[in-house]
Amino acid sequence: MSTTTLGVIGTGAVGLAVARRAVDAGLNVVLSNSRGPETLAGLVAELGERAHAATPAEAASAGDLVIASVPLAAHEQLPRAELAGKTVIDPMNYAPRPGWRIPELDSNKMTSSELVQRHLAGAQVVKALQCIGMKQLVDLSLPA
Ligand SMILES: NC(=O)c1ccc[n+]([C@@H]2O[C@H](COP(=O)([O-])OP(=O)(O)OC[C@H]3O[C@@H](n4cnc5c(N)ncnc54)[C@H](OP(=O)(O)O)[C@@H]3O)[C@@H](O)[C@H]2O)c1
Repeated sequence: MSTTTLGVIGTGAVGLAVARRAVDAGLNVVLSNSRGPETLAGLVAELGERAHAATPAEAASAGDLVIASVPLAAHEQLPRAELAGKTVIDPMNYAPRPGWRIPELDSNKMTSSELVQRHLAGAQVVKALQCIGMKQLVDLSLPA
């Protein structure tokens, strides 16, 4: 059986913590962010041979499973075509800020994952990891 690859769109606190746990568990990871793969070279070197860097669209294409660990305000930039047919882990929380609010979320007419699923119409969006601190995710993990 070939090794599972986790695509990581958004390599910040959450994406990096999950990428570290994924590498520890024997998965390959393809990291991406908004600034380009070259900005992830140091992390790739640190994570070792199971890690690569790419664009968000390439990470989406490469992933058997993809985590979309970006701010919710950026969810419409997630690569819809490349994520079609994929399972997408959604840890995003709604954090309204001045100039950016989503009325359907403010009025509880929709959940944030329904919003993400609406954009990623061809993907299967799975809510996870939104309620765990990244320190706990790193420090309290157990062996596979
Ligand atoms: N931090 C927590 O403890 C925590 C816990 C649970 C859930 N969450 C949720 O998880 C998500 C990520 O949180 P975080 O703390 O990891 O955020 P973060 O540290 O600010 O990292 C965000 C990442 O998303 C990338 N990004 C932003 N816009 C992008 C775009 N359009 N395309 C590709 N990548 C993009 C950023 O890339 P650049 O750096 O290149 O801009 C960065 O790598 C948020 O929705 C948050 O609500 C966070």
